[in-house]
Amino acid sequence: MDWGMKNRLSRIIKPNGRCMLMPIDHGYFQGPTSKLEKPGETIKQLLPYSDALFVTRGVLRACVSPAETIPIILRVSGGTSMVGKDLANETITTSIEEAVRLNASAVGMSVFIGSDYEHQTLSNLGNLVNEAERYGIPVMAVTAVGRELEKRDARYLGLCCRIAAEIGAKVVKTYWCEDFDKVVNGCPVPVVIAGGPKVDTEREVFEFVHDGMQRGAIGVNLGRNIWQSPHPVPTIRALRHIIHENGTVAQALNIFNSVKNEERKTIEV
Ligand code: 5RP
Repeated sequence: MDWGMKNRLSRIIKPNGRCMLMPIDHGYFQGPTSKLEKPGETIKQLLPYSDALFVTRGVLRACVSPAETIPIILRVSGGTSMVGKDLANETITTSIEEAVRLNASAVGMSVFIGSDYEHQTLSNLGNLVNEAERYGIPVMAVTAVGRELEKRDARYLGLCCRIAAEIGAKVVKTYWCEDFDKVVNGCPVPVVIAGGPKVDTEREVFEFVHDGMQRGAIGVNLGRNIWQSPHPVPTIRALRHIIHENGTVAQALNIFNSVKNEERKTIEV
């Protein structure tokens, strides 16, 4: 691997081999997602605890100060919306030239395997890797399922991750599922866990992230379960402990509660 590629990957994946990636790209197909109406406001408090931001060029330019040093993974696929016919019908919306101009550390895009647009989105991935490799820019593939959340099982996600890696993704982002080790073990490149829609309790988030890490994930790319929580900073700090310190679910809950109490005291003062 060339120096530039290694250098960019090492900005995102920390020396312990782990990463806490923060996606705020949801607006590219969801519009003003709940709690992400003003992305700059949402992420301000989370930046110190995030290892990289996954973001479109629009939000990057409009809502993130160029003085920020946080590494950027640029979302470069899109072209569909929640109110359109098919979320899978994506194209590449942002060029590699733009990624270089924005000093991105990586680019990210979705593939929709098993959908009517499987061939199109996998071709998008191949073409993006061809372009990105020329400039030493790593590609993160997102194994998207659109509205079909029930597709999330080890057999399907394992197939998706392996195909994305075979085409050249340097990192693959996929959903957590039962038997997550089967997904990771069949994928020759690092796997990060996506969050999906908000679950009911923080404990549930800590449990699936802990299980995924124990089964070989290198980290998370987890958004709504952090910034849609009533307690985003306690949640991300607890998750960092699981990811970067091999923390347990019980330890994560302790951190969550103590940071939440500190916040409450600060508000009361
Ligand atoms: C959308 C994405 C998002 O980055 C992804 O869904 C991660 O965010 P969340 O944890 O909120 O699901 O790739 O396709």
